Amino acid sequence: MGATIISGKLLSQELKDLMKLQVQELEKKYGRVPHLVVILVGNNPSSISYVTGKEKACNYVGIKNTTIKLADTISEEALLSIVNDLNKDDLVDGILVQLPLPKHISESKIIESIDRKKDVDGFHPENVANLWLKQKCTYPCTPKGIIKLLEKAGVDIAGKNAVVVGRSNIVGLPVAKLLLDKNATVTICHSKTPNLMEVTKYADILVVAIGKARFISKEMIKPGAVVIDVGVNRDEQGKLCGDVCFDEVSEIASYITPVPGGVGPMTITCLMENTIEAFLEKNK
Ligand code: GUN
Repeated sequence: MGATIISGKLLSQELKDLMKLQVQELEKKYGRVPHLVVILVGNNPSSISYVTGKEKACNYVGIKNTTIKLADTISEEALLSIVNDLNKDDLVDGILVQLPLPKHISESKIIESIDRKKDVDGFHPENVANLWLKQKCTYPCTPKGIIKLLEKAGVDIAGKNAVVVGRSNIVGLPVAKLLLDKNATVTICHSKTPNLMEVTKYADILVVAIGKARFISKEMIKPGAVVIDVGVNRDEQGKLCGDVCFDEVSEIASYITPVPGGVGPMTITCLMENTIEAFLEKNK
């Protein structure tokens, strides 16, 4: 038997192909294409690789992309001033400041300084509040991508027990809220949860975002569960792997996302979608 693999790579490709056509239409109608500005501070290898992925996706879809690369010695004040200039620039639709930032810069201060309407990450406090209040907002990219993957696989979320492992602002908390909005019964677990296995075993839908290589074993899974692996880790051999032991868990799950090629590509694709939405909102 074995689980059906939910390919983020394939779904991502389908969505990017549709967006490519949409962007061509937008250019005809508005005389310009959406413009995303990504700010990269320092030389964090993971950040560089994410930013490269975003550039590639923009080029494919036809979104204009500018990457501003800054030394990790830049002051908070100077970074705030750059964001402020981009906020004022009518030809910039989306602004993304790649995280993490160096310790001397307050991430929350920088995120708050981004114009809410250009916050394509969905990290601005106003977007976060609107998400929890079920008001119009920009959904953060990874949670948005996870819901699209579940829907693509035809998973009925309503009434299911969804368990989220991880409580970050970027993934755990917002994906829990989106699952709740789809009428799942949601449990959020974290590093202080005793008997984690008892909770994960209860999950019809398990979302894992803890950043620990192959942490979730077969024993922690209910047979037939849908497993979404958000982790991107390197194992001892330097091989890319998720938070889930893919080989053994795929024996008993009904659906599972692979790493790489699962959630990762969807995050970038949803960023493209959020940029187009920001452009449309501006030109309404
Ligand atoms: N660092 C890791 N993931 C993300 C993300 O989704 N957005 C930003 N801005 N930084 C990140």
